[in-house]
Amino acid sequence: MQDLLPRQKEIFRYIEDTVRGVLESYGYAEIGVPVLESTQLFSRLVGEATDIVEKEMYTFEDRNGDSLTMRPEGTVGVVRMGQENGLLFNQIQRFWYAGPMFRHERPQKGRYRQFEQIGAECFGMGGPDIDAELLFMCQRMWQALGVSDEIHLELNSMGTAECRAAYRSELVAYLEDRRDGLDEDSLRRLETNPLRILDSKVPKTQELLADAPTLTNFLDEESQAHFDQLRRVLDQKQLPYQVNPSIVRGLDYYNKTVFEWVTDSLGAQGTVCGGGRYDGLVEQVGGKATPGVGFAMGLDRLAMMLDDKFESTAGADVYIASLGETARAYALLLAEDIRGNLGHGKVVVHCADGKLKSQMKKADASGARVAIIIGEEEVSKGEVTVKHLQTGEQQSVSAEGLIGHLSEILAGG
Ligand code: HAM
Repeated sequence: MQDLLPRQKEIFRYIEDTVRGVLESYGYAEIGVPVLESTQLFSRLVGEATDIVEKEMYTFEDRNGDSLTMRPEGTVGVVRMGQENGLLFNQIQRFWYAGPMFRHERPQKGRYRQFEQIGAECFGMGGPDIDAELLFMCQRMWQALGVSDEIHLELNSMGTAECRAAYRSELVAYLEDRRDGLDEDSLRRLETNPLRILDSKVPKTQELLADAPTLTNFLDEESQAHFDQLRRVLDQKQLPYQVNPSIVRGLDYYNKTVFEWVTDSLGAQGTVCGGGRYDGLVEQVGGKATPGVGFAMGLDRLAMMLDDKFESTAGADVYIASLGETARAYALLLAEDIRGNLGHGKVVVHCADGKLKSQMKKADASGARVAIIIGEEEVSKGEVTVKHLQTGEQQSVSAEGLIGHLSEILAGG
């Protein structure tokens, strides 16, 4: 679990503000769901045989003896929320959320046990047009964040549960004949969740998979038509993508469209966003059949991509230094007055001891354009010294004229 230092947090905030702007322009409404849900919700809906449920959940008993889990992902909580609040059946919804998720994974660069996601979930739209709209929206977000050149889209269709069952038997038969070439993890998955073997990063297993049957050949007519139509719309918009039959996602609830946005600039943990369709999930939480589709992006990974080019706007505009006890008390009141009347800008008061030289060093380091210097004499005269930190010029300004003077300097750049 990482600590977020000020610069990192500022980048997170920038991503969230930018992404929120795009989400709102597509008509998404923000929602909040709890960090804790009943364990059973995740184990049943994310899938008993997934890595998340098998070995990554933070699960504990609360004081009533109920088993709770810190959410490893957002989708099933949103579906539960929508169902319990009557927001899904026969309605069209576009929701988004942001917040921390928790998975007990092996930590490495870009992979943490607490990480931040922004997710979007849509309900009541079963056709490929909403899938396309979600992908257009993602593309717009990458453009707004300035990372679209470094991210590409990988797309697949997982068809229906029936197509997957037929495919699974073929895949298992193929792999059973080649057991000797499989790594330990894949052998285990062969029993529990064979499709996940397609995701394997082990080179020997990947080699073996090159000639394996692909899910694409097992799609039923409807899934195939849905996928073809989605691809047509993406082609019309000239949104580039690669069809990657090995994208099966690590959660059990998907059907038809699945996708991942991937970057090469982060090493092994290059998936910055993943999602797809989950038309069966609402029924699984006890609702009437309602199609759903969505995605979630990882802020930690996006923040790493932005780190080099992000220009901080943190820091001060005005830094107030003071000498002596009376001046120090006056500085505090003056700062309140400036904040109340200037209407913008960041005002930082030194609020500590220190020689003028060291206070001015702090003023420079704060990024402020203006320092205000107050001594005992200035207080008695009702004046302050205003120093322009870029040019070094300084002048005395009367207390009454100060706000006007600061507005001019700050507006002037
Ligand atoms: P996911 O692929 O498990 O999907 O996670 C989505 C994104 O969260 C990943 O692409 C990655 O950027 C980020 N992420 C996942 N695990 C970690 C980690 N340990 N450390 C840092 N970042 C991580 C879901 O969670 C689905 N709920 C997405 C979805 C929404 N599908 C439909 N609707």
